[in-house]
Amino acid sequence: MKRELVIVMDFGGQYNQLIARRVRECNVYCEIYSYKIDIEKIKAMNPKGIILTGGPNSCYLEDSPTYSKELFELGIPVLGLCYGAQLMQHVLGGKVERANVREYGKSHLTVDNNSVLFSNVKKESICWMSHFDYISKTAPGFEVVATTPDCPVAACENTEKNLYAIQFHPEVLHTEEGTKMLSNFVLNVCQCSQDWKMDSFVEEQIKAIREKVKDGKVLLALSGGVDSSVAAVLLSKAIGNQLTCVFVDHGLLRKNEGDEVEEVFGPNGNYELNFIRVNAQDRYYAKLKGVTEPEQKRKIIGEEFIRVFEEEAKKIGAVDFLVQGTIYPDVVESGLGGESAVIKSHHNVGGLPDYVDFKEIIEPLRDLFKDEVRKVGLELGLPDYLVFRQPFPGPGLGIRIIGEVTAEKVKIVQDADAIYREEIAKAGLDKTIGQYFAALTNMRSVGVMGDERTYDYAIALRAVNTVDFMTAEAAQIPYDVLNKVMSRIINEVRGVNRVMYDITSKPPGTIEFE
Ligand code: XMP
Repeated sequence: MKRELVIVMDFGGQYNQLIARRVRECNVYCEIYSYKIDIEKIKAMNPKGIILTGGPNSCYLEDSPTYSKELFELGIPVLGLCYGAQLMQHVLGGKVERANVREYGKSHLTVDNNSVLFSNVKKESICWMSHFDYISKTAPGFEVVATTPDCPVAACENTEKNLYAIQFHPEVLHTEEGTKMLSNFVLNVCQCSQDWKMDSFVEEQIKAIREKVKDGKVLLALSGGVDSSVAAVLLSKAIGNQLTCVFVDHGLLRKNEGDEVEEVFGPNGNYELNFIRVNAQDRYYAKLKGVTEPEQKRKIIGEEFIRVFEEEAKKIGAVDFLVQGTIYPDVVESGLGGESAVIKSHHNVGGLPDYVDFKEIIEPLRDLFKDEVRKVGLELGLPDYLVFRQPFPGPGLGIRIIGEVTAEKVKIVQDADAIYREEIAKAGLDKTIGQYFAALTNMRSVGVMGDERTYDYAIALRAVNTVDFMTAEAAQIPYDVLNKVMSRIINEVRGVNRVMYDITSKPPGTIEFE
């Protein structure tokens, strides 16, 4: 099916994925491309609209990212944001200059409600600004439709040509009316028909998978995380037991997690597929014996995963397809989509393709953002606890235990973590905190319990709020909740006599505690 498309042209700003997500929240499909994209490619895609992102440069300097004037003459609506707004004005004959001071943070915005961008938007509201340069003179044919005390052109438009420029960032939540503005652009200016819906995505994917796989054999490495679980269900619905899922229990999962995965996907579960659980706990513990250096632990766990999977794959024999749970941010971040690429090597299944005898890779979730993967999961009837699972690193508890990993330490951190998660959920905080877990420090100290001296471990509790997992702040958990968790962990988990709350932000810390 041909779907309507809005494209985001990435000029190196930090919020570019957010822009695409906001557009998709309007049920309009959106993809991110580098600003280096060829105009012929844009014409061939025939998008309903184009959004130019922010970026760190000054558009009037020689080497800054730019685009030819032709972009604004295609007859396709264009919305420039921040750098994108300045660039549009610069290229079309307006003036952009350096301001005396950088405007950063919340500003008071006043809009002209006659502009279609601002229809149904409050006349006065707060917007989020982050810029040094400003538009001092609009290009011919443009009219100013919003201002702030420090910014004479907070937004301008040329309605005849369907060109719009916004100096602030409507995509970030600090801009109170931002979502409405973006929705006004895609729905009222671009006139998109909102044909991006998860139920039709599921139907189309099932059909496409059937057509591709025919009677072939398909192999999937199931981790129990959101992406691989949703991929497994989608494939199971499409091709039933032509699909084999291999689930490696490395003994570094959260409490009961292995059994939970088996309950859903195993022989007594809800789906038609071949499920193979490999209980490799002892193998992993043996390999990790005496190893204390975190990077080395990661390496061993990753390599062992490949070995175990390779052995299983050999038993199964040649397959036609290997499934990978790649999602859209992976595509963008590995440099294939946008410009502001953060190169991440893709951990969990990294390296697998070399070790499996297969003909082709299938990536059914490649076009989806995480929240869309979750919607697909719900659409497919996966239980909430799987769909709303927190991120969990591939090396698992192996990197939440400081120092040597042993079966005893795994049990301690599993039990403490389960109590912590239970209490957070009871306090109703589970949907608001980005990520939270318990880690086992390698520190033992003296305590007293029932008149006896103890010499036990300290558990560290971690909880962070984050938008993109690149930066994070410690969550402010109410003291009584922390107190309850402390008291339960010390009473119920043997080997622990202290509980600490980690208040470090990222940077300088990381989210994981390894
Ligand atoms: P850090 O600790 O780097 O974590 O601040 C950022 C986010 O990434 C997750 N993380 C991983 N996820 N494999 C993964 O799939 C890994 O090896 C890995 N290491 C960290 C972490 O849980 C957090 O959400």
